[in-house]
Amino acid sequence: MQGQMRLTSRLPGFHRLDLAHRRQWLLKGEAKAEDLEALEPGRALGLETADKMVENAVGVISLPLGIGLNFQINGRDHLVPMAVEEPSVVASASHAARIVRQSGGFQTEATNREMIGQVEVRTCVNPATAKVSLLRHEAEILAVADSVHPTMRARGGGARAISVHPLPDGLVVHLIVDTCDAMGANTVNTMVEAIAPLISDLTGGRVGLRILSNYTDSCLARARCVIAPAHLTAPGFSGPEVRDGIVQATLFAGADFHRAVTHNKGVMNGVDAVVIATGNDWRAIEAAAHGHACRTGRYRPLTTWDVDLDGNLVGSLELPMPVGSVGGSVGLTPGTRAALRLCGVEGAQELAQLIVAVGLAQNLGALKALATHGIQHGHMALHARSVALAAGAQGELVERVAQEIVRLGEVRVSAAREILARLT
Ligand code: MEV
Repeated sequence: MQGQMRLTSRLPGFHRLDLAHRRQWLLKGEAKAEDLEALEPGRALGLETADKMVENAVGVISLPLGIGLNFQINGRDHLVPMAVEEPSVVASASHAARIVRQSGGFQTEATNREMIGQVEVRTCVNPATAKVSLLRHEAEILAVADSVHPTMRARGGGARAISVHPLPDGLVVHLIVDTCDAMGANTVNTMVEAIAPLISDLTGGRVGLRILSNYTDSCLARARCVIAPAHLTAPGFSGPEVRDGIVQATLFAGADFHRAVTHNKGVMNGVDAVVIATGNDWRAIEAAAHGHACRTGRYRPLTTWDVDLDGNLVGSLELPMPVGSVGGSVGLTPGTRAALRLCGVEGAQELAQLIVAVGLAQNLGALKALATHGIQHGHMALHARSVALAAGAQGELVERVAQEIVRLGEVRVSAAREILARLT
């Protein structure tokens, strides 16, 4: 990054270039030739590495990696690497990010990155006395936790505090750990196992489970955007109409469980794509997001869309975002290392904020389409290429078959096969 010009994320016409020219364009910015090589099939994750990563490995499965464009976050441009099999996700995020960019971009922030490890204590005779004893010995417990991961302390992180919560027949101790730029699941799990004997001594109870909690509500990231209605138009719809349609769609999600789940799936389309591209644990992010959606006891839409006093559309999203920019499987494979470099973030906190901004953009893109022409209008044109591929089309025939099934309004594999047979 140093000494090199930062690439703008606004690249008009990028999607119309062929893949080779898109890669060339990236070289003008932060991407290095070795990054692009690392994203080639067979390089992103080699068989040898795969064999070390999981048991019984027999191969690797690949996903397309697209670049989300137009993202401006806290005044800085970012290219967004998105690994996803679904057509429209990258295009829709880029479209929405462009709208937000015209209105000043995303504002984001992140809380401290603190993970929670849980130690369950069963058959505790007197939970109230046990709690007092635990809190009195907090420093000792933290010291034991840190002793198994001295490097975390050296990096400025480590065990920070404990809290004690009642259970029907005992209690649970939360160990709060600052894991710096790592997601830190292994660190936290090692720590809670290490403190378990001391917890048992201090409480007189029997220790049960010792494991991190995937509900990381002390590691949150937030994104917000304020959009002038003039930037929200769609053919046949005025800005205020689109704005009000988006607000109405959010009210629907707030009132209806089935819709809320789909609303949030749209948010996670963008979130997961970046989480996967950067080698993070997407199951952890998904679990935490859906936990966050029902933190009030009722499952709710993750985003809010309201109108401010000036008539602007104001969107926000808060998510637990315990991603890492080092450690674990992050950075283990050449492909994820290259993706991390491409998005130009300085560490885990900045990555978390980028991902939440992408989730908000993805939701905006989906709601804007749903509130105007419907999702199939744009989606089918892009989906048609996958249908053409599934029908066996190759090379330039993919585009020809795709265009023809869209023209006929028959975006189906059977129709694509017939057209392919005619063309070959
Ligand atoms: C499709 O992958 C996601 C959407 O269904 C999200 C939504 O309905 O908000 C379009």
